[in-house]
Amino acid sequence: MNHDQANVQRFDTLAPQWDQDAAHVRMAQKVARAIRDALAPQGHEVVLEFGAGTGLATLIMAPRVRHLTALDGSAGMLDVLRGKCARKGLDNVDAVQGNVVDVPLGHYDLIYSALTLHHVQDVPALLRKLAAHLNPGGRVALADLDTEDGSFHGAIEGVAHHGFDRGVLGQWLRDAGLVNVSFSTAWTVERSNADGSVARYPIFLAVADKPQAG
Ligand SMILES: C[S@@+](CC[C@H](N)C(=O)[O-])C[C@H]1O[C@@H](n2cnc3c(N)ncnc32)[C@H](O)[C@@H]1O
Repeated sequence: MNHDQANVQRFDTLAPQWDQDAAHVRMAQKVARAIRDALAPQGHEVVLEFGAGTGLATLIMAPRVRHLTALDGSAGMLDVLRGKCARKGLDNVDAVQGNVVDVPLGHYDLIYSALTLHHVQDVPALLRKLAAHLNPGGRVALADLDTEDGSFHGAIEGVAHHGFDRGVLGQWLRDAGLVNVSFSTAWTVERSNADGSVARYPIFLAVADKPQAG
């Protein structure tokens, strides 16, 4: 089984319980609100979310934009997302199954993602692809873990990066042709260790713009 197949299988298995973890839901919602506040959508935007999962961020962003494509590799996660959108009456969301690395994309005013970049092996190549599918003046917002020691996930197949260095990711965004790169801390996960100490895992939010044409 390759890296991407391992991810699909893992998230298909996790999907029915994903929203039962209160700490996880809280983290996803905090990060999603930080993304929404940073992108400040006005209501006319056509948007791509990749790694949409069960839609914890989708439900926060969709009411604020014109159309949102919720892309995910896992059919199981998307089944949960579709059910939630139907119950909320969100008819501007299309749930699409596919790998963001190789699926054909449209063109978007905003592209965002939460806690998914660490599953992608060739991040610079993905950033070039995302930049090519942003409209001029469009914006990208990417949230993920700062560099960590591997303890966040433990030994799990399908995790390609133990977080990211902000300086390195910022340079990758600029190399992809994006400008106005900025970073903030969207949320910090805190976990109690067996010895009573607390492990902290900050989650960055990187925002960048595609230059206006001309
Ligand atoms: C850690 S979960 C985060 C889900 C959601 N963003 C959240 O915060 O609850 C990562 C999600 O990304 C999806 N994923 C991982 N790699 C992907 C890829 N290359 N293309 C599309 N989706 C991917 C997984 O199926 C999973 O739903």
